[in-house]
Amino acid sequence: MQIEPRVFSGMQPTGSLHLGNYLGAMINWIKMQETHACIYCVVDLHAITVWQDPAELRSAIRQVTAAYIAAGLDPKKSILFNQSQVAAHAELAWIFNCVARLGWLNRMTQFKEKAGKDREQASVGLYAYPNLMAADILVYRATHVPVGDDQKQHLELARDIAQKFNNDFRDQIIAHGYRDGVFFPQPEPVITGPATRVMSLRDGTKKMSKSDPSDLSRISLTDSDDIIADKIKRAKTDAEPLPNTVEEMAKRPEIDNLVGIYAALADTSKDAAFNLLLATSTDGPSLFTGFKRNLTDAAIAKLGPIRSEIIRLMDDPVEIDKVLANGAERARALAAPVMDQVKDIVGLIRS
Ligand code: TYM
Repeated sequence: MQIEPRVFSGMQPTGSLHLGNYLGAMINWIKMQETHACIYCVVDLHAITVWQDPAELRSAIRQVTAAYIAAGLDPKKSILFNQSQVAAHAELAWIFNCVARLGWLNRMTQFKEKAGKDREQASVGLYAYPNLMAADILVYRATHVPVGDDQKQHLELARDIAQKFNNDFRDQIIAHGYRDGVFFPQPEPVITGPATRVMSLRDGTKKMSKSDPSDLSRISLTDSDDIIADKIKRAKTDAEPLPNTVEEMAKRPEIDNLVGIYAALADTSKDAAFNLLLATSTDGPSLFTGFKRNLTDAAIAKLGPIRSEIIRLMDDPVEIDKVLANGAERARALAAPVMDQVKDIVGLIRS
């Protein structure tokens, strides 16, 4: 049986989305919406693997939905919904808890980072998180997953789970009409563009993230023009002379990051952005001032309209909830037959 190309991806509703989420993933989501059947999820069940204040969570789910729409995702073209409204995600995740091996999860670097030193106190959900992520993708038998570079390892795990499920239940899968024995596809990560790993504006060795205690480290999609300008002005650079080549620049994490961000915002190549860096540089300690000015203009031009649209949409939560309800209904309709087949394949009885 032919598996149709289908795109799935998601973001956690934990605080405002930032430039890393936008440039690393969402820009590609918007492009793929024109060429593929796409499902974009607000992964609220993933968010509660660490403590969330219930009122803030509810608001963040709506805000991420508003950001999806404001950035250009069209609920008529793509399916937009929040994960907890489609029970099949959690149901398939349980089955995957029984397929994935402890040894596989023990290797997950993001669990180690997020659990920190006091691992005994981490929730079981945080540990099993990658299995739920595999279920998100595979409950739609999705084939393409546009994400930032940090999700690579989780995607590899999803592929391993798909493969092991196909192997463990090979005879049943063939008996169900999948003659090649492939029930779940191997989902392909789509990690592409000049900013697949946006770094902190304060430390070029750390990823830009919602959990960084310094607000100056990230640009949020809800930041005002003035705040964007201020954060870029104060973004860390170094005191070395200008790099001569793009390769040389790669060893200068802060500069490399700013040039990558510019390229992604202005929809140009890293080479072109590097040439702009050379053309706008000035002598002395303000070497990067000219480039930063261009970067600020590009950021405000791109993010300003998104911010206004988020604010406008957030004024009408009933409308946002309608979008989510409609998306959830469509998602449930796609997931239900897959879940029915999974149950039959595994040997569970359903009515
Ligand atoms: P999350 O919510 O941390 O991030 C959402 C998306 O943004 C990307 N991203 C970045 N890209 C570049 N530079 C950065 N600094 C940066 N920070 C975040 C992430 O790679 C991601 O694509 N586990 C996922 C959510 C998830 C998911 C899924 C994704 C749950 N189920 C199924 C794809 C498919 C996460 O925590 O992303």
